[in-house]
Amino acid sequence: MNDSMPDVLGAGETDSDDTPDDSAWWQSSVVYQIYPRSFADSNGDGIGDLRGIIARLDHLEILGVDIIWLSPIYASPHDDNGYDISDYRAIDPVFGTLEDFDLLVAEVHRRGMTLLMDLVVNHTSDEHPWFVESASSRDNPKRDWYWWRPARTGGIGGEPGAEPTNWGSFFSGSTWEFDEASGEYYLHLFSRKQPDLNWENADVREAVYEMMRWWLDRGVDGFRMDVINLISKDPALPDGVIAPDKHYGDGFPHYGYGPRIHEFLHEMHERVFAGRVGRFLTVGEMPGVTVEQARRFTDPARRELDMVFQFEHVGLDYGPSGKWDPRPLDVRELKASFARWQEGLAKVGWNSLYWNNHDQPRAVSRFGDDRLYWAKSATMLATVLHFQRGTPYVYQGEELGMTNVPFGGISDFRDIESLNYFAEAIEELGGEPESVLHSIRHISRDNARTPIQWSDEPQAGFTAGSPWIAVNPNYPTINAQSQHGRAGSIFEFYRTLIALRHTDPVISRGTFELLYPEHRTLVAYTRTLKNRQLLVLANFGNGHLEVGELSDIELPEADAWRTAPTLIDNYPANEGIDNLVLAPWQARVLTRCLR
Ligand code: NOJ
Repeated sequence: MNDSMPDVLGAGETDSDDTPDDSAWWQSSVVYQIYPRSFADSNGDGIGDLRGIIARLDHLEILGVDIIWLSPIYASPHDDNGYDISDYRAIDPVFGTLEDFDLLVAEVHRRGMTLLMDLVVNHTSDEHPWFVESASSRDNPKRDWYWWRPARTGGIGGEPGAEPTNWGSFFSGSTWEFDEASGEYYLHLFSRKQPDLNWENADVREAVYEMMRWWLDRGVDGFRMDVINLISKDPALPDGVIAPDKHYGDGFPHYGYGPRIHEFLHEMHERVFAGRVGRFLTVGEMPGVTVEQARRFTDPARRELDMVFQFEHVGLDYGPSGKWDPRPLDVRELKASFARWQEGLAKVGWNSLYWNNHDQPRAVSRFGDDRLYWAKSATMLATVLHFQRGTPYVYQGEELGMTNVPFGGISDFRDIESLNYFAEAIEELGGEPESVLHSIRHISRDNARTPIQWSDEPQAGFTAGSPWIAVNPNYPTINAQSQHGRAGSIFEFYRTLIALRHTDPVISRGTFELLYPEHRTLVAYTRTLKNRQLLVLANFGNGHLEVGELSDIELPEADAWRTAPTLIDNYPANEGIDNLVLAPWQARVLTRCLR
């Protein structure tokens, strides 16, 4: 944390006669994700709430974001912090009331922003009345709303190995829970309290569409759709392949991009959005989606989704055994992934750009250097992302450079995925608690879920009570109060990046070309629109780099770039210094008119 201030220079000329297409208004927008539990607590119960969000909307207005994505605030038993919904039309009392929600929508709109709800319809809570009815008897009319199956042939229900398929859950263990009362199993890709809805059933689909229309009528502007690529399953439910080091089979090929996925999303579009007056946005969260699939999902002509949320770049530091087996990031692989998505969606389709969300550890700790070059690496990562084509997402606290958390023992964690993995790794796989904890500390979702650090007051100004998860102890130095309006802060750097996206069409619509794909620490690419070109240079490391001297690929027109105007730089302007020389974790964007 010994960085000096970044220096932000003028935004350069813009191409004002090149007006963007209003039907794709979100292409020059920036999304801000709120994880309500940890955003701001207005009533001192230690959990963030809607009134807390309303009281902090100035922060977002000043930052300049356009769209707010609100993680779930619906009634829920909170097995998975609200991603297990027991009533789609009620606000959970810990977050407030429908009246508070209406006020939030009005306040967001008054400030010229829009609001996306989180739509979690791959599964419900097991406490949702639909599931309670479905579980009540084998011949209940809602039985078929979920995936119920008998034990596999020859198996005895409830005994190990009798599960209808060998699939492993995202949250450890089998994807099947045995229900003693009816003698059948139900499917849950996530926790056993998150049973999967059966989208083959037309009544399920209609109930979801009706609920979506209800929220749109209430004034929301669209949806971020939770694991929406998992809603179509192969009804035959075949077993998955079991990898050598795994206990369970991989069911993903049978539910990840199922036979009716395009049909369902097109139907949703027609039943919910077609003919509705207004501007709406749909974002599909899609673990495992490929570029080709994403192009199909977001091709406007197909009328399915506006953009995808894909995971390729945040899986690059997973080791051979998956997320709990981390390995260092290879920057060359990161660049290849960026280029694949930029090129693959260049003509048709649209991508979300992100480093952080509520499921990822903090990027500045994961991919940057949160000790010696905290502010430099946070702003470098932001630059590399925000200059790509796509819609950037800022996850709460990212704009302050919030870091991973120095968790102690397992009792410091709250996340079901982390807790289940800990139990499984130790009890079933015989892992050493300290080494299991080591990987959980590094990659756990709880790193992103600690309260926003608003100030250096007790509990970082998040709550007057006792927070549901401990505040990161670095809040006296990393907090919003110390960065607002302070030239050179991470917050002010993000403000400038966001403003640039609004004003500079090269950023939202220019073509992308990756340079130096084989270099281990340099990320360099150009963006070009008509006669304007930007050169983005970023140093992913603690050493100095002389880009003009790199021999593997000649930088076209290096001499012109050496003296070209700077659009943004996370180091102070230094007259007379060669533009192509980069200090540790430096990011610099140059601009030029092509002749
Ligand atoms: C993806 C969400 O982002 C994550 O937080 C949640 O646990 C799963 N889907 C299940 O809903």
